[in-house]
Amino acid sequence: MSFTITIDGREVSAEPKETLLDVCRREKVFLPTLCAVDGLTEVGACRLCLLEIEGTTKLLPACTTPAMPYQKVRTSSDQLSTYRRMILELFFSERNHMCGVCVANNHCELQTLAVKTGIDHFRYPFLQPAVGVDASHKDFILDQNRCILCTRCVRVCDEIETAHVWDIMGRGVQSRLFADFNRPWAESTDCTSCGKCVQLCPTGALWKKGAVPGELKKDPSVAGTLAARREKRP
Ligand code: SF4
Ligand code: SF4
Ligand code: FES
Repeated sequence: MSFTITIDGREVSAEPKETLLDVCRREKVFLPTLCAVDGLTEVGACRLCLLEIEGTTKLLPACTTPAMPYQKVRTSSDQLSTYRRMILELFFSERNHMCGVCVANNHCELQTLAVKTGIDHFRYPFLQPAVGVDASHKDFILDQNRCILCTRCVRVCDEIETAHVWDIMGRGVQSRLFADFNRPWAESTDCTSCGKCVQLCPTGALWKKGAVPGELKKDPSVAGTLAARREKRP
């Protein structure tokens, strides 16, 4: 049975099993997100969708926090703006995001959020670990330098394509994506070359060969469309 929660002082209806992000999206309340995408399990990886909830001093991610009766939620405050800006800056400083020479320039979710947040400089030192590029696949390229470890590719390949090619290895700044048993992508025996991981990637980390800077366009809604069709199957 549906119940009521309060978002930014406005009472709205929520359903059992909905997350706070589900409710915000339905009510057209903007929250920055990078790892959450319709049709895939939520993992709370990017921490951009943090919210304030009355009664707790912790900031909680909207994508993995269930809506509960009588919750009072704030989606914007000075504190939330400070954290969101810091998280975005850390993404940019960890690897190499030189937008002007990236295939995803002007079509990148990270870049779009940075512009929306008004980021014009970074306060943190660039780390840029040597993570490499895998261009072995016949159709696609993985440039780990643009990867933000959101795991959308891991989840879509596992949950929708059911191939489970990708995983994350390592810790901290050395974390990186790998295919099968840490083989070049072309040697994966499970990859069907469906391209779903490329469509879901929010940055220029996964792209189709032949794309030039600024040309790449992706469609992350493919996961939601396929998941909905699967649910309707008799
Ligand atoms: S192309 Fe398809 S099967 Fe291959 S890694 Fe990407 S999502 Fe998985
Ligand atoms: S390659 Fe793209 S989709 Fe995969 S973890 Fe990195 S940024 Fe996310
Ligand atoms: S969208 Fe919620 S943690 Fe990434």
